[in-house]
Amino acid sequence: LTGAQVIVVSNREPFIHDLEEDGAVKLRAPAGGLVAALDPVMRACSGTWIAHGSGSADHLMVDADDRIAVPPDNPSYTLRRVWLNEHEEKHYYYGFSNDGLWPLCHVAFTRPSFNAEDWEVYEAVNRRFADVVVEEARDERPVVLIQDYHFALLPRMIRERLPDAVIITFWHIPWPNAEIFGICPWRERILDGLLGSSVVGFHTQYYCNNFIETVDRFLESRIERDSAAITCGGLTTHVHAHPISIEWPPASLARQPAVASCRRDIFERFNLPPQAKLCVGVERFDYTKGIIDRFRAVEELFKRHPEWIGRLVVLQVAAPSRTALPAYQQCQRECLDFVDELNARYGHDGYQPVHLLNESYGKDEVYGLLRAADLCMVTSLHDGMNLVAKEFVAAREDEQGVLLLSSFAGAAKELPESIIINPYDTCGTADALLRGLTMSPEEQRERMRRMRETVRENNICRWAGNMLLDGARLRKRHHTAHV
Ligand code: G6P
Repeated sequence: LTGAQVIVVSNREPFIHDLEEDGAVKLRAPAGGLVAALDPVMRACSGTWIAHGSGSADHLMVDADDRIAVPPDNPSYTLRRVWLNEHEEKHYYYGFSNDGLWPLCHVAFTRPSFNAEDWEVYEAVNRRFADVVVEEARDERPVVLIQDYHFALLPRMIRERLPDAVIITFWHIPWPNAEIFGICPWRERILDGLLGSSVVGFHTQYYCNNFIETVDRFLESRIERDSAAITCGGLTTHVHAHPISIEWPPASLARQPAVASCRRDIFERFNLPPQAKLCVGVERFDYTKGIIDRFRAVEELFKRHPEWIGRLVVLQVAAPSRTALPAYQQCQRECLDFVDELNARYGHDGYQPVHLLNESYGKDEVYGLLRAADLCMVTSLHDGMNLVAKEFVAAREDEQGVLLLSSFAGAAKELPESIIINPYDTCGTADALLRGLTMSPEEQRERMRRMRETVRENNICRWAGNMLLDGARLRKRHHTAHV
C-alpha cells in the first residue's frame, strides 16, 4: 500500500472536546471497542479519519476546514469532523442506527424499530459523509476504511464517485441470519450499499456466512462460495473474516504500577474487605451486554453458597451510552433497581456486594481495574467481538485472573481457555462463578498463558495488516488490469 492515502470513516470520533462549566475545554476518549481498536492503526499509518464531531467544544478546536491534528499531545494523523444537527442525530444515529440496525443485528430480544424518517435521514447523512470522503481524497485511488453499521450505504455512494477507490468496510457488530435480517424494510438497499465495497469484513466466519446467505436470498447476484466472493452488477465484493483485537502490549500498560499495587489501590478506594475476591465488569450501559444477568448469577451464588456473602465484591463500570433511547433508559433503571435490592439484602456492616459505577472510565483506569481483579465477567447476550475480554488478558502479565466469557461474544471463538458461559442460564453462570472463585493459581496460570499467546499473536496490527493486505492485493490487481 506504499504511497496510498488511507481514509477511515466512522460515526464515533477518537477524540472528543467538551466544554466544561467553567469554560475550559476538556479532552475525552469515548467508550467503545471501535475507536480503541482503530486509533493505534491510524497512529501507525497517519491518514485521515472522518467522523461525527460530537463534543460540545469540538467546533472550537478545528481549523477552517474542520480538521484537527490528533492525538493532540502527539499529532500523527488528521481528524476531519463532520457536523450533524439535532434532527440528523435523532434519526440517523439514535433512530435508524441504534433503534433499528443495532437491535436487529444483535438479536437481543429488543424489538428493532424502523421508520421512514429515520431511514431518509440515515441516507442523507451517509451522502454527506460521501461528500466529505471525496473532498478529502487526494487522488482517485485512496484506500477507504469504512467502519460499522452507521454507514451501510456509504460504500456504494463512494464507489459511484471514486470508481477506482479500494473500499474496505468493516461491520463491527454481528450479522444475523437471512430470516432475521429480512425484517428490515430496506434490506435490499442496505445490501446493495455494502456491495459497493471491495471487501466487507466481519469478526467471525459465521457472520460472513450469514451475510452471504442474506445477499443470496434478497439480491440477484453470483456467489462463489469457495472464494467468498459476490458479484453483483459487474462489481465483485470479497467477504472476509478478520477478528478485531487490541494493541499488544497496550500503551496504557506501561503507565501501570505492579498488579499488587493496583489491587491495593482499588481495595482502598472502594473500601473493600481485604480478604474479598474482586470480580470486575467494564462496559457501556447497553442491553446487549447482559449486565443484569451477571447480577442475577451473583444473587444465585449467594443463595446457594451463602459463605460467599461478604467475600465477593463486584465492581461494574457501566458507562452511560445512547441515553436518549427508551430501551437504554429501561435497561439502566432495571439494573440500578436490581443492584439496590441485592445490596440491601446481602450488604452488611459497610460490605456492599455490588458497586455499580455509572460513569465512563478512561483506558488507564480500566487497565488499573482489570489488573486488580480476581475475575472478569463478560456476559454479553450477543456481541460482535468484545474487546474487554482481550484487554483483561493483556492486563495480566502476572498470568493470574479468571475470565468468564459469554459464548455469544465473538471473542469466545478465540479464547476457549476462558470459562465459557451462557448468560441466559443463571444457575449455570453461578456455577461458573464459583468455579472461577475457587480455581487454583496453577490452573489460572495455565489458562491465562494460552490466552495471552493468542491475543499477543492476533493483535490489532494483525487485524489491520490483514485488511490492508486485502486492499493492497486488490489495488495491485486493479492496477495490472489497467496497464
Ligand atoms: C459499538 C459499535 C461502535 C460504537 C461503540 C460505542 O462498539 O460497534 O460503532 O462506536 O459501540 O457506541 P457509541 O454509540 O457511543 O459510538
